Amino acid sequence: MAEVNLDKIFASFILSLEDVVDVSELTQIEKEYLGKGSVLSEERAKLASLSNDDKKKYGALLKDFADKVSKKLESFKVDFEKSYFTEKEKSENPDISLDWFSKKGTRKHILTNVMEEVVDIFASLGYTVAHGPEAETSWHNFDALNTPDWHPARYESDTLYLDKDLKNLLRTQTSTVQVRHMQDNKPPVYIVAPGRVYRSDQLDATHSPVFHQIEGLAVDDGITFSDLKGTLEYFVKEFFGKNVQTKFIPHFFPFTEPSAEVLVSWKDGEWLEILGCGMVDPNVFQNVEYPSTTQGFAFGVGVERLAMLRYGIDHIKNFYENDLRFLEQF
Ligand code: DAH
Repeated sequence: MAEVNLDKIFASFILSLEDVVDVSELTQIEKEYLGKGSVLSEERAKLASLSNDDKKKYGALLKDFADKVSKKLESFKVDFEKSYFTEKEKSENPDISLDWFSKKGTRKHILTNVMEEVVDIFASLGYTVAHGPEAETSWHNFDALNTPDWHPARYESDTLYLDKDLKNLLRTQTSTVQVRHMQDNKPPVYIVAPGRVYRSDQLDATHSPVFHQIEGLAVDDGITFSDLKGTLEYFVKEFFGKNVQTKFIPHFFPFTEPSAEVLVSWKDGEWLEILGCGMVDPNVFQNVEYPSTTQGFAFGVGVERLAMLRYGIDHIKNFYENDLRFLEQF
């Protein structure tokens, strides 16, 4: 019988696995322990010269050894690849939301903060958050919102269309989320929809081709204009302070009837417009297949405008330039 200690060889094989840092090394190890020139192959070559009995016994031992090595290589490879990819994924996709605030110098953007604050105010009244796509159909952005074909907002000079037949566009208002939400949900509805909107505007002190809005929608039995007033007055006081007064003046929006603009009392007795609102037009309810008796109100507020007023920011471009001297003030 041969004298190699197969257990010892197996132990050294296991040890060599501990140093593996790359799967490709496993081919080398396999060769070393099972391939040509390995102790195993040398021992197998010796089998021919053994007695029949020894041949059988030793042959079985060698086969056992080879099986054990192959099996171990196989399972090691599976485990190794699993942990290799989990580690790789962890290092390449760190969860940046973890530990967000403790990292020196990191903070949320002022527009994110303002949006979250507005959403929180409405959340305290029972509203939930809804979202919709930024690339929209003209139907959701205009038709469903009762906007007539001739309405100037539809002009290519105002709206960024995504195709020649003007069927798809970048949404010009978050009011689209009203429509999508009502199509998918029955009343009662109490939602706010924060998000980005797009218009074919030149950048100036108060306009940007991309900006942010928060849409609100409340639909429930017996909702009236008083509910709208009370809700928005509450919002204004929570956001700007208890001493700020509100004034509702008549306005026109295709999707509400009656419609109003809300103004807030500012320094030097000035009144500044901050949002549009109104009772949802019955045509909108009809377009989303709500019963004709449905009542509700809606409003839309510009996030940049809120932030500019509250913090006295004089140019909208400040929000987008990523100048730390600006961003770090908030
Ligand atoms: N979508 C309007 C805009 O972008 C804002 C608005 C006005 C939304 C009145 C409303 C509303 O829901 O009722 O100017």
